Amino acid sequence: MSPLAVLAALSSTLFRLASFVFLRVIPTSLAKPVLPSLFFSHLFFAWLSSPPAPETAAHQENDKSPGPEPEPATESKDDKAQIQAEGAPAETRPQTPQSVKRVSLLYELAALIFSLPSHLPRIRLFNFVINTVLFIAALDLVITPFVDAASDVVFTRIGAVLPDSVKVTARYPHHNLTEHVVRVLWRDPVQDDTWREGPVLNLTMANDWVGTARIDGLWPDTRYEYVLAKLDGSMLPYPLDPITFKTFPDPRLPGGNHFRFLATSCVTPNHPYNGPHYRNVIRGFDLMADYLFQEHTIDASADAQQFQNEVQATALPPAEFLLFLGDFIYADVPVYIGDNKEAYRRLYRRNYKSPSFRRIYERLPIFHAYDDHEFINNFAGAGNDSVPPFPSASNAYTLYNSEPNFDSSAAGQHYYEFQYGDTAFFVMDTRRYRSTVDTNIQSRTMLGDTQLAALHDWLSKVNETSVFKFVISSVPFTSLWSHDAIYDSWAGFPTEKQALLTAFHSVPNLFVLSGDRHEFAAIEFNTASGHNIYEFSTSPLSMFYIPFVRTLRSESEEFIEVPSPTNNFANVTDTTATNTGANRNNTVLTPLEKVMKYIPEGNSKWSTFEIDTTDPERPILKVEVVVDGEPSYHWSFVGKPSTPRTSSALGLFVQGGIYEIFNRIGLNPQKWF
Ligand SMILES: *[C@@H]1O[C@H](CO)[C@@H](O)[C@H](O)[C@H]1NC(C)=O
Ligand SMILES: *[C@@H]1O[C@H](CO)[C@@H](O)[C@H](O)[C@H]1NC(C)=O
Ligand SMILES: *[C@@H]1O[C@H](CO)[C@@H](O)[C@H](O)[C@H]1NC(C)=O
Ligand SMILES: *[C@@H]1O[C@H](CO)[C@@H](O)[C@H](O)[C@H]1NC(C)=O
Ligand SMILES: *[C@@H]1O[C@H](CO)[C@@H](O)[C@H](O)[C@H]1NC(C)=O
Repeated sequence: MSPLAVLAALSSTLFRLASFVFLRVIPTSLAKPVLPSLFFSHLFFAWLSSPPAPETAAHQENDKSPGPEPEPATESKDDKAQIQAEGAPAETRPQTPQSVKRVSLLYELAALIFSLPSHLPRIRLFNFVINTVLFIAALDLVITPFVDAASDVVFTRIGAVLPDSVKVTARYPHHNLTEHVVRVLWRDPVQDDTWREGPVLNLTMANDWVGTARIDGLWPDTRYEYVLAKLDGSMLPYPLDPITFKTFPDPRLPGGNHFRFLATSCVTPNHPYNGPHYRNVIRGFDLMADYLFQEHTIDASADAQQFQNEVQATALPPAEFLLFLGDFIYADVPVYIGDNKEAYRRLYRRNYKSPSFRRIYERLPIFHAYDDHEFINNFAGAGNDSVPPFPSASNAYTLYNSEPNFDSSAAGQHYYEFQYGDTAFFVMDTRRYRSTVDTNIQSRTMLGDTQLAALHDWLSKVNETSVFKFVISSVPFTSLWSHDAIYDSWAGFPTEKQALLTAFHSVPNLFVLSGDRHEFAAIEFNTASGHNIYEFSTSPLSMFYIPFVRTLRSESEEFIEVPSPTNNFANVTDTTATNTGANRNNTVLTPLEKVMKYIPEGNSKWSTFEIDTTDPERPILKVEVVVDGEPSYHWSFVGKPSTPRTSSALGLFVQGGIYEIFNRIGLNPQKWF
């Protein structure tokens, strides 16, 4: 084989490997220089290299000159001509023994796989076609967001849900409307025969035809539905069927709650790449919709046990909302979309256009946080809103994902808190105020002073009033992840993390939820005094994970002495099972941070949290981690008993909220309006 042929084979093989990695494993931005270079190098070397001599193994008599006879691989017509001219005789040499034929066949197979020089034009043609198809596929993946502006997308969804109101977001572009306003019509399907007039959304081009408004005056824990209409009251064609939603329960009522919610992060359409027909598919949302909403058709042939299981499966409380913890768009993967409002907005529109996502957002309220890829990789805003690309990126995020969220305690902020019954949530903004990496590590802040104060206020408030508390951070709170997590996650903010950790440990039943790493991990944070806290970091919903490479350490280097968990084992001196060692004072050494479960594999992951606080003595949290559609890990926790709630005698036997209370005592408040 001539050196040029070696180069041709090498560049083609590398190109194929790199294309596979780019399309199916990691859509890395490295592909931008690498794939075109390899593709065109191969074409170039294949063109320069001589038409190959027939396979060496056969000691064949074909003594075609190996001299340079440029043969443009791009000319399929030439190739076809040559198939007729020389392909047939070469294959049907009568004197070729069987073994040589087999070797020759193997060689041609290898030629096809590794782009080795082949005297068969059809092999050369196939090689050219394979590489060209791969190149076009990579190009399709890269340019789709640039060519598909998704400017026609029409959608509506529910955002923030409170006991007495909800936020409705809708997009209706200009050409679908005569007026620029859309009215929300809503009703309680049980109580109302006619639609009630809700808020008006004033849609403008400046706001990309998206608007968010609030339906007020609702009853807690009640199911409603809404549609969109013109100002004259005539219905708009979308949504075809009313969108239903249920208000949250009144947190002041005793009796506890039993509900589920989901948490995940990181989506990009069509990953792993499946072809241009899958441009709008976000597989993780399809898996999630199947998991949440599939009809539990009970097979007639199923046995009694199966039937029992099915009934139990359907007896789970409904999922009430999804927490999406950032990397909803990938502005810079595989190539940066550009720093202008339209560039960022189109990526949001592209997701809302996805039928996969539609299956979720038309049925489940979604509360968002952003992370770096809503801006650019490892973005740190340093509290300066003029730093690019914050203005453009924040504008698009605000319109599509932040306005629909709960209102922040401070105007214009993306962090917020909310409550589902007696469970409390605080969602952080970890990007806008974070110090840049050139700041001294001890004085770095992730949240900024105002947000930190809001978080501490919330902590001391919910400490007494709520049973379970969830702190939501787009990036992991644990410091066990390596690589860029060392500076991009809370590991890079040790002072602020330590102060928060101290406060968290003083609060019972507190959990941290995060995303970002494209891996799942459950982490236990131990403390010598106070309460252990737990973190569940779940991602991606539809994005890459890195195979083979493991980036999570199993425990931290710092150990602390904690009281021995049970006295039964207090004088067991043999503690081979773990790194913990017992000592004479009935204490054990335990790492500050310890992995309970690590699931790196899987392109699609989410966690489902089931909360049951109906027994105040035994509040329960159950976690289910679903990987590629399969439940893969279960964890449960019996919380500290909740503080006695102030309760009215009436409330004690009425669990359904104020609405039911009025119903039971014979009043129908809706008739008062
Ligand atoms: C909106 O307008 C576009 C272009 O005229 C049309 O293709 C689309 O079906 C319309 N959508 C709705 C919901 O009316
Ligand atoms: C909608 O907004 C525009 C621009 O702010 C304003 O001129 C118009 O009066 C508004 N329309 C309604 C119905 O609120
Ligand atoms: C904020 O960033 C802008 C643009 O980078 C810069 O011109 C300005 O001086 C910064 N402001 C502060 C207070 O640092
Ligand atoms: C939570 O309450 C406990 C007990 O009252 C108290 O010791 C702790 O400091 C409180 N923590 C916060 C963050 O308010
Ligand atoms: C400790 O070990 C001794 C000897 O095996 C046993 O008699 C004693 O009951 C143990 N104490 C506890 C608390 O288990």
